[in-house]
Amino acid sequence: MNTKTDTEVWYLSLGLVVFGVTASILQTYVSAPYGKFSSTHRSWGPSISPKLGWLLMESPAFYVSAAVFFTQSDPAHRYNTVNLLLLSLFIFYYLVRSLVYPLLMTSKQPMPIVVMFSAWFFCAYNGYLQGIYLAKYSTTESLTTTDTTSTLTTLRLTIGTLLFFVGWYINQASDHQLRSLKKHSDGYKIPQGGMFQYVSAANYLGEIIEWCGYAVASWSIPALAFAVFTALQLGRRGLSYHQWYQQKFKEEYPKDRKAIIPFIL
Ligand SMILES: NC(=O)c1ccc[n+]([C@@H]2O[C@H](COP(=O)([O-])OP(=O)(O)OC[C@H]3O[C@@H](n4cnc5c(N)ncnc54)[C@H](OP(=O)(O)O)[C@@H]3O)[C@@H](O)[C@H]2O)c1
Repeated sequence: MNTKTDTEVWYLSLGLVVFGVTASILQTYVSAPYGKFSSTHRSWGPSISPKLGWLLMESPAFYVSAAVFFTQSDPAHRYNTVNLLLLSLFIFYYLVRSLVYPLLMTSKQPMPIVVMFSAWFFCAYNGYLQGIYLAKYSTTESLTTTDTTSTLTTLRLTIGTLLFFVGWYINQASDHQLRSLKKHSDGYKIPQGGMFQYVSAANYLGEIIEWCGYAVASWSIPALAFAVFTALQLGRRGLSYHQWYQQKFKEEYPKDRKAIIPFIL
């Protein structure tokens, strides 16, 4: 793990984990009021269209991280292959999530502005954290040298990037399956096939694998903090989805399907 990390980055990473723990405890009592749990949204104040909500709330992650990286880095960090690859993975995910996902989405459930703002804040915060880490504290070493450190970095980068894309594929394929369920009618149905054979929240499982892959590739405290945040946040909501499916579909719902981790949880 790269510990060449300034106090600012340590505290911001700690803040992310504390935010994740707090949000997942709160979600034990109140599920974030969008999607399946949006029936309570009226008590959460005014809402906006979900397409606009996703665009506004997810986009700061890519424009804040890119702006911070390109304005705060010195040339040694800015033109380093490792840093550019990590930034590209992060920006790639958020470009797809904030620009392509809203265009494809079929949901008509309105999104409370308060949900949109809290996600906007999270994405700006995390974009700043990942961007400033890559701009100032990540590696400046070259992958072309043959020493042990460089070999280890290449190995972690390769395994982590592969894991990132495996997770991304599971996440995208599962989101696609869910969208297809709404093509012919508006109601919720039991998703079948793919990773849904094993877990109720297959898209969340993919997302968790993806950011764990990013943490392996980056081998840094900020990326680890983000992976922990994602696991806490989506793991908690995945558990709620599982209970929701069991209560809605009762006997019809597959008994051997787990919530978020195949065969385990
Ligand atoms: N990194 C993060 O912290 C983070 C946080 C949140 C989300 N995300 C990602 O963003 C994506 C969307 O998240 P989400 O929370 O909106 O996911 P979701 O609740 O699973 O919903 C995804 C889409 O599928 C529809 N849907 C869900 N279950 C369905 C069913 N049984 N039958 C028919 N349609 C169904 C939803 O419609 P409705 O909207 O009408 O329910 C929505 O359009 C996921 O890939 C997730 O991993 C990431």
